[in-house]
This record gives sequence, C-alpha cells and structure tokens, in this order.
Amino acid sequence: MSTPATPSPPPASGGEVVAIFGGRSEIGLAVARRLAPGRTIVLASRPGADTSALGAPLADAGAAAVEFVDFDADDLDSHAAVVADIESRIGEITVAVLAFGILGDQALAERDASAAARILHTDFVAQAALLTVLAERMKPRRRGTLVAFSSVAGQRVRRANYVYGSAKAGLDGFASGMADALHGTGVTLVIPRPGFVVGRMTEGMDPAPFSSTPDQVADAVVARVQARRAGVVWIPWQLRVMFAVARLVPQPVWRRMPR
Ligand SMILES: NC(=O)c1ccc[n+]([C@@H]2O[C@H](COP(=O)([O-])OP(=O)(O)OC[C@H]3O[C@@H](n4cnc5c(N)ncnc54)[C@H](OP(=O)(O)O)[C@@H]3O)[C@@H](O)[C@H]2O)c1
Repeated sequence: MSTPATPSPPPASGGEVVAIFGGRSEIGLAVARRLAPGRTIVLASRPGADTSALGAPLADAGAAAVEFVDFDADDLDSHAAVVADIESRIGEITVAVLAFGILGDQALAERDASAAARILHTDFVAQAALLTVLAERMKPRRRGTLVAFSSVAGQRVRRANYVYGSAKAGLDGFASGMADALHGTGVTLVIPRPGFVVGRMTEGMDPAPFSSTPDQVADAVVARVQARRAGVVWIPWQLRVMFAVARLVPQPVWRRMPR
C-alpha cells in the first residue's frame, strides 16, 4: 500500500519548485535555465560534487532562488528522504527532471558483471525507483510534471553499446507504462528520446547523424513540459522516422552499426 504524501508548505520563495536530479547534468542545467524565471531551482547532485559555479547562471536567468541538495541516485533507500527533505524545507516539487545518468565503459561491462550491473542500476533501476517516489507524492496533489530521459539507444539496442542501450530500453518501457498509469491523475510524465547529444557525456566520440546540443534538447523538453503533454519527445523529430526504418534493418547489418 502506498503512503499518502505529507502535505508540504508553500515554497519559501512563493513560486514553483523545479528539481533537477543529477544537478550537474548539461542537459538538466539547460532545462533549468529555461524554467528558471520566477521559480526556485533545486540542484540535487552527488555529495561532494563541485556545484559552486552552477548557481549564478540560474540566478542570471531569473531564478527566484537556487538550492543545493546532496543526492546519490545509486542509494535507492535515500530517495524518499531526499524528496521529503526538499518538499519540507523548500517547497512542493512542481517539475522534477531526472537528468542523472552514466554512459559507462561498454568494453569493461562486457567482461565485468559488476560494471554492467552499475550501468543498469544507475540508468534503469535508480530512475524507476525515483520516478515511483515522485509520482506517489504528486498523485494525491493531482499536479506535477516528471521528465525521464530515454534515448534512441534504447529503441533498437546496438551491439556497440548494448549495456547502456538496454538500460534505456528498460527505462523507456517503464516510463511509457507509468505515463499511461498517470493518465487522468493530473501528473504528467514526459519522456525525451534524444539521439546523440554533443556534450560532456559524449566527449571524444564522433557525432552520429541527427545529433543535437544540450540547448536543442532543452528547448524541446521545456516546450513539452510547458504544454503539459505526457509521452515521448523525439529530439530531433527526424529520429522518429529514422528509427521506424531502423527496425527493419536485418540483424547481420544492424550488428555492425557503430556506437
Ligand atoms: N548526452 C547524450 O548524448 C544523451 C543522449 C540521450 C540521452 N541522454 C540522457 O540524458 C540525461 C542527461 O545527460 P547529459 O548529457 O546531461 O549528461 P551529463 O552532463 O554527463 O550529466 C549526467 C549527470 O548525471 C550525474 N550522475 C551520474 N550518476 C549519478 C548518481 N549516482 N547520483 C547522482 N547523479 C549522478 C552526473 O554527476 P557528476 O556531474 O557528479 O558526474 C552528471 O552530472 C542522461 O540520462 C542521459 O543518459 C544523453
């Protein structure tokens, strides 16, 4: 049985609260800058991570306040307490962006079971756990928006990055089902499916066709959040067509696809 959410006080700043889980994420911060005007931004980052430079750009973008919270996604047992702490001290979360994730070392994960499990744990299990905690708090209030980052890597998993890709496939399935379960509850779950994003996570890799930037991803995500429309957002939209065709590619060809 689920526990009803504890009623939380209004935000100290009097505005909405946007929480970025994985508070140093390039994409998460680009989303935060766009949602900043008049809102409190909470950056929930790994304990000990350097967040000293992250507040000023959000204040410049018009944030009512910027708050910093320790959050280790891999520590599943801490999720409920972190969310409860944000809501009791800072205010009810209106938009929660799950921006944490790791690409991991595919070659290592092919040989080392614990390395494979770490990627699946962060990119699938921890995401599913936090989405569940957040949805259970938002449902009784009948409002709130969740953002869970899928990827085209999970649409048809490639040999070259099957560990990360399978985690994203799992997350995409979980989030798609949850978005349907939330239909009619007043809570919206947005599922961005970006292609290759040129940024820190992909540093040193050759960009794939239809690459985008963190700013382009954030534009598409924020437009969808503001429209309060649940479901998948392909970024860019052309990838929807490309992956409809990709499903038809014979396996002997698909197996040679680059990362
Ligand atoms: N970049 C792409 O090509 C791409 C494409 C499709 C989907 N996505 C997805 O989009 C999301 C955002 O990616 P991004 O490009 O913004 O990547 P990013 O800049 O590398 O950010 C990922 C963030 O996740 C944080 N993180 C990792 N493990 C964590 C943990 N256990 N607890 C708390 N935080 C943790 C990292 O923290 P530290 O800063 O402390 O390392 C980092 O700030 C991810 O889910 C990613 O898989 C990215």
